[in-house]
Amino acid sequence: MNDELESERLLLRPMRAEDVPQIAALMADYDIVKNLSTAPYPYTLADAEAFFARQREAKADGEKHDFAIVEKSGGGLIGKIGMCAKEGVFEIGYWIGKPYWGRGFATEAARRVLAFGFGELKFERIVAGWFEDNPASGHVLDKLGFTATETVGRDCLARGHTVRCNMMALTREAFAERRVS
Ligand SMILES: CC(C)(COP(=O)(O)OP(=O)(O)OC[C@H]1O[C@@H](n2cnc3c(N)ncnc32)[C@H](O)[C@@H]1OP(=O)(O)O)[C@@H](O)C(=O)NCCC(=O)NCCS
Repeated sequence: MNDELESERLLLRPMRAEDVPQIAALMADYDIVKNLSTAPYPYTLADAEAFFARQREAKADGEKHDFAIVEKSGGGLIGKIGMCAKEGVFEIGYWIGKPYWGRGFATEAARRVLAFGFGELKFERIVAGWFEDNPASGHVLDKLGFTATETVGRDCLARGHTVRCNMMALTREAFAERRVS
């Protein structure tokens, strides 16, 4: 099983202990955590340490495939991407640190992780959800070929309340068609 994935500009690799301070620095931003379900606000170094410890446990049971996103050209972690099982279906999630927004990194990293999920892991369907006031993430999913399925209420720890969340799905077939077209 691949531990590292590569795309044109990015290397997706396992998290390392040395990433923890950078995770804390980039996640200490309400504009990031308000768009995630389980990240607290304010986000501290202790939160990043706890996240890293949970990662190592989850990795062992095969229910989580998480990667640090780094640029091949050098430097440390710029974001995180992963897929985790929720009620038997794998859901993709990601964040990119604000200094790196708008350069196509989320789309590029997600495309590579989806290829891994549908290819090596043989998933038939991958889902994703974006909060209704986060159109940038909805746009990333559109670009990847996801289509809308339903709208649900999802808890957001940083905001402290439930937020309307647009769920989307992508099948292996649709992903493959899009790649050749
Ligand atoms: C959402 C997020 C992952 C996007 O990362 P990114 O690397 O900037 O994304 P990309 O550059 O690959 O693509 C973003 C697209 O959204 C578009 N976009 C940006 N702001 C937008 C907005 N307000 N409305 C609609 N589209 C928007 C960009 O123009 C770009 O599309 P384009 O390539 O067609 O121009 C990043 O902003 C982030 O981490 N946000 C906080 C955490 C989060 O939202 N995670 C996802 C949870 S579902």
